[in-house]
Amino acid sequence: MPETTPKGLTGLAFGGDYNPEQWPQSVWHEDVRLMREAGVTMLSVGVFSWALLEPEPGTYAFGWLDRVLDLLHENGVRVALGTPTVAPPAWFYRAHPDALPVAADGTRYEFGSRGAICHSNAEYRTAAADITTRLAMRYADHPALALWHVHNEYGVPVSACYCESCAVWFRRWLSRTYQTVDALNEAWGTAFWGQRYADFDQINPPRVTPTVGNPAQALDYRRFADATMRENFTAERDILHRLAPGIPVTTNFMTALSQCDSVDYWAWGREVDLVANDHYLITDGRRTHVNLAMAADLTRSVAGGAPWLLLEHATSGVSWQPRNPAKAPGQMARNSLAHVARGSDGAMFFQWRQSRRGAEKFHSAMLPHAGTDSRVWREVVELGASVDALAQVRGTRTVADVAMLWDWHSWWAQSLQWRPSEDHDPRERADAFYEALYDRHLTVDFAHPEADLSAYPLVVVPALYLTTSAAGDNLKEYVAGGGTLVVSYFSGIVDEHDALHEGPHPGPLRDVLGLTVEEFSPLLKDDRVRVLRTPGRSPAVAGEDRELIGDVWTEFVVPRGAETICTYGDGLTAGHPAITRHRLGQGSAWYVSTRLTSRGLDTLLGWAADDARIAPRAELPPEVEVVRRTGESGTFLFVINHAATDAKVPLDAPGAELLTGERAATCLALPPGAVRVVRLDG
Ligand code: GLA
Ligand code: ZN
Repeated sequence: MPETTPKGLTGLAFGGDYNPEQWPQSVWHEDVRLMREAGVTMLSVGVFSWALLEPEPGTYAFGWLDRVLDLLHENGVRVALGTPTVAPPAWFYRAHPDALPVAADGTRYEFGSRGAICHSNAEYRTAAADITTRLAMRYADHPALALWHVHNEYGVPVSACYCESCAVWFRRWLSRTYQTVDALNEAWGTAFWGQRYADFDQINPPRVTPTVGNPAQALDYRRFADATMRENFTAERDILHRLAPGIPVTTNFMTALSQCDSVDYWAWGREVDLVANDHYLITDGRRTHVNLAMAADLTRSVAGGAPWLLLEHATSGVSWQPRNPAKAPGQMARNSLAHVARGSDGAMFFQWRQSRRGAEKFHSAMLPHAGTDSRVWREVVELGASVDALAQVRGTRTVADVAMLWDWHSWWAQSLQWRPSEDHDPRERADAFYEALYDRHLTVDFAHPEADLSAYPLVVVPALYLTTSAAGDNLKEYVAGGGTLVVSYFSGIVDEHDALHEGPHPGPLRDVLGLTVEEFSPLLKDDRVRVLRTPGRSPAVAGEDRELIGDVWTEFVVPRGAETICTYGDGLTAGHPAITRHRLGQGSAWYVSTRLTSRGLDTLLGWAADDARIAPRAELPPEVEVVRRTGESGTFLFVINHAATDAKVPLDAPGAELLTGERAATCLALPPGAVRVVRLDG
């Protein structure tokens, strides 16, 4: 069994990407002195250093990296050593221009940035294996080595290459997957628009076409591109395992969908020894801490609930969004510790020292351009002390209350063109349901639709357009066994090839939901419908009669066993069911066929939570995040006050507050913006 925690790290990881090659050696000594001041315990080194390590083909220059690793070791800093395969040198591309990836429109990308890689290119594969082997042979026994950081963010900036070599590989992948071209014709529905193939050789990547291309082809290409990248990761990983046994291998994920949606992290989570994630706040006006919590929960989930590692986030602003605000005082610590609360065994940043040159010089860093006489630096030093005080949290697991289903294949299918309404944004639904659960102070695990769900009292399915029959059976078994399920519209529509399931919608979810959907009727822009409690029906649900509001989508739902809880008050579907509940076996399955506002979602989830016997956490103030980690070293209650007012949080048990060193008895008082971590007694 490979190791799963960074070697030699006794507490949490605190540090960031260290790029000393951007600085004269005189600066390195200042770096390590300041690292000690900040309490840095681990750094990622060498992620983009290929051109310096191998300045000419076959000529290696490891001296500078030897000195960096020695210096860090002397200063007690552990190293996550990068394999620099995301940035091959200029000489490599001169010799092998075909290694540059090609876009769907045929444009070949140029050298001069990073991540310009065609993952099927044979020369790239050989060169990547070679530099990885050299690094492993040289540093396997270096005392600073704690972790291998393979590549960088597979899937961005290029999610798929459309070159001729990839076309050949795609054909091979298809013939392995389908065996016969007839099976492919059937699965892809090539009878439509005369797309029938007589041979695998006739198939190309889904390059630019005059109008919409075959959706199943596009979906398979995403699977193929993902699998090809993963092969390159596992090739490097296997070299490292062989040459450096005992050192875990990771690569930095980006589970926040808006940052990388092109890899299936369920599959990747199984391949790494330790799940690591990068997370950057998207500052588009929404509540960034909710988005952060969602990404952290998703990361923990792809790690199977095990501790993971936040390998990058920002001390303050980033530099690649349209507007890049600085973080507010205290926000960095709230962000870092929220990741820790949700399972990260550390808090690391991009990057240690802010660059003076290059594309990311406006991106914040632990040591800002302003130097040590700065707010960011003072907060970094303070955070270092907090992270140090949380050493015992390491290895414990975050406790989740409910599950939300998530599947990248369904996400990819939902992103295909020509759908009933462009206003239906599956990501928006996932965010909205997550936010509603967050606001009820429920910690969410994400689960694959075919995973065992029996541990969760409540499972929420915000948008699962692609639902396999196995997933349908799984949900039926879950509900029959006593679970409570909430499904939102446009779920259960297609199979793994983007073909509509046989029989009426929602295919494999018909039985569990006790209904069929006769027709979709999306609304026009800005149209809204009232969703009314059905007169005469009085389900055992709490709350006063309220009129809920829907927009974007409505459906003609025909109950077939389900009871109608709410009906549409307006529009084409007026009088038809809008929200239903189906009692099945020991459990119940709710369905909502319109896009409810956040208030409507809260009401719906309140009804479902009652069914699931999840007591409301009314004692917890709004905008206070409360998350628990538990394990051999104890139970730790993380409390984060995102509000600008004082908050009081009752405790089930007294304990020691680890950041202030104070005792906490029955109630924890938090000033605005504060974070507290209580190790509960017992
Ligand atoms: C990504 C990369 C880093 C850096 C940061 C900040 O996460 O991995 O190298 O570019 O973004 O933009
Ligand atoms: Zn290619």
